[in-house]
Amino acid sequence: MKDTIENGMDKTELTPEADYIKCEKQGEQIVETPKRFVIKGGRTLRGEVEISGAKNAVVAILPAALLADEPCLIENVPDISDVEISIRILRELGAEVERISPHSYKIDPRGVHSSCVPYESARRMRASYYFMGALLGRFGHCRVSMPGGCPLGDRPIDQHIKAFAKLSAACKLDRGMVDITTEGGLKGNQIFFDCVTVGATMNAMLAAVKAEGQTIIENAAKEPHIVDLASFLNSMGADIMGAGTDTIKIRGVKYLRGTSYAVIPDQIEAGTYMVAAAATGGNVLVKNIIPKHLESIISVMEKIGVKIEQFDDSVRVSVDGPLVKTSIKTRPHPGFPTDMQPQMSTLLCLANGTSLIKEGVSEQRFQYVDELRRMGADIQVDGKVAVIEGTGQLTGAPVKACDLRAGAALMIAGLAASGITTIEDIHHIERGYSDMVGKLRALGACIEKTECIPDAAAGNAAITDSAVV
Ligand code: EPU
Repeated sequence: MKDTIENGMDKTELTPEADYIKCEKQGEQIVETPKRFVIKGGRTLRGEVEISGAKNAVVAILPAALLADEPCLIENVPDISDVEISIRILRELGAEVERISPHSYKIDPRGVHSSCVPYESARRMRASYYFMGALLGRFGHCRVSMPGGCPLGDRPIDQHIKAFAKLSAACKLDRGMVDITTEGGLKGNQIFFDCVTVGATMNAMLAAVKAEGQTIIENAAKEPHIVDLASFLNSMGADIMGAGTDTIKIRGVKYLRGTSYAVIPDQIEAGTYMVAAAATGGNVLVKNIIPKHLESIISVMEKIGVKIEQFDDSVRVSVDGPLVKTSIKTRPHPGFPTDMQPQMSTLLCLANGTSLIKEGVSEQRFQYVDELRRMGADIQVDGKVAVIEGTGQLTGAPVKACDLRAGAALMIAGLAASGITTIEDIHHIERGYSDMVGKLRALGACIEKTECIPDAAAGNAAITDSAVV
């Protein structure tokens, strides 16, 4: 019985059991040892920090290398677990991946023999959905597990499916796997997105770049990583125009040559260190950034009273007066990013007055609030609105990171708080932040990564200053 769910995707079971099992077997079990961060707060951050390549760009650029007909060199790759997972998937598919230096990889996709990404690999990160667009563009068919990622509420992929369907692909859901097939290959078309979506815009680009004819994507997302993916593909010979605007035009090409490409800096990592500097009353030069990508973050921080000096590829953040309340609404780029909302809320806990945050992008982005309350924050949440009473101070406590940016917010809270904070479930943080302990220590923070000790989760009593350096 056919049961249509989202824009043409149906639940009909068409794939033989043997295929399904083969797909599942491609993934290996990853055993994780739980770790935690222990932070002794109250130290002022000073010095310089170098920002790594952008997570949300690299997680699309790595799968995009599958579309190349020659090897590619990708540089400025951040050392994060989402990259590890992406590389693992590329290798499982048959690509040769060589780490040339700590931050550059050579990817030779010519030997790729599979178009299947199993559950075990895909469930570990949201961005595994980019393998759908890339494999579809390469083979005209693929079988990819529904994605995992941060628990930020309902995160449908109906717009991704809508885009593939517009390009003449048929999509079916089969026990958690998305089967996408074409008859006679992908064909360019007009795609209008019902909402502004980063993931679906990038997936449509990946699928369309080698499709026959012209594709026009309307109501496209405009984030810097959209432009970066287009630049990467264009450097291989793709014909993409308008990335960074509402309308992206793609003329399909038959061949994509090898390229050498450096990923843009991560504006959310930069924003996180900028807020950490401000929260500790510090003075930090945040290097290897594109200040234009940080405009909305800089504007909000200046309203809060943080001093920001802009240079060509860096900003200096310092505080020379009181921090004050403000109102923020998150929006798609160039608005204030939802990925900076938890960190900025933490800063507003330390400011004078009552601040208002409206979440305009994600379904559930206030899950960190309960953890911040354990540290003395006064925040009330009603649906997509949070009211923050600035208390001017936070106190250390044992807390858990419930998602990536929630974890970043708790790191900032721990750095600014008096006493010791332990943060568990740090795998969320390590999905998106390169060497956070090393970078923070270089700025003078007192932080250590240790094994989780069950008793320690219950309180601070067992944690002494010797646990942190
Ligand atoms: N949406 C739909 N249908 C879709 C796709 C999206 O309704 O098919 C909705 C979502 O539910 C959400 C909104 O559209 O309410 C925006 O979703 P979008 O597709 O833009 O988000 P995403 O691609 O799932 C990326 C980043 C997120 C970031 C958001 C918003 C990656 C891998 N992830 O997610 O990054 O929060 O865009 O900018 O690029 C993070 O880095 O911490 C993170 C969660």
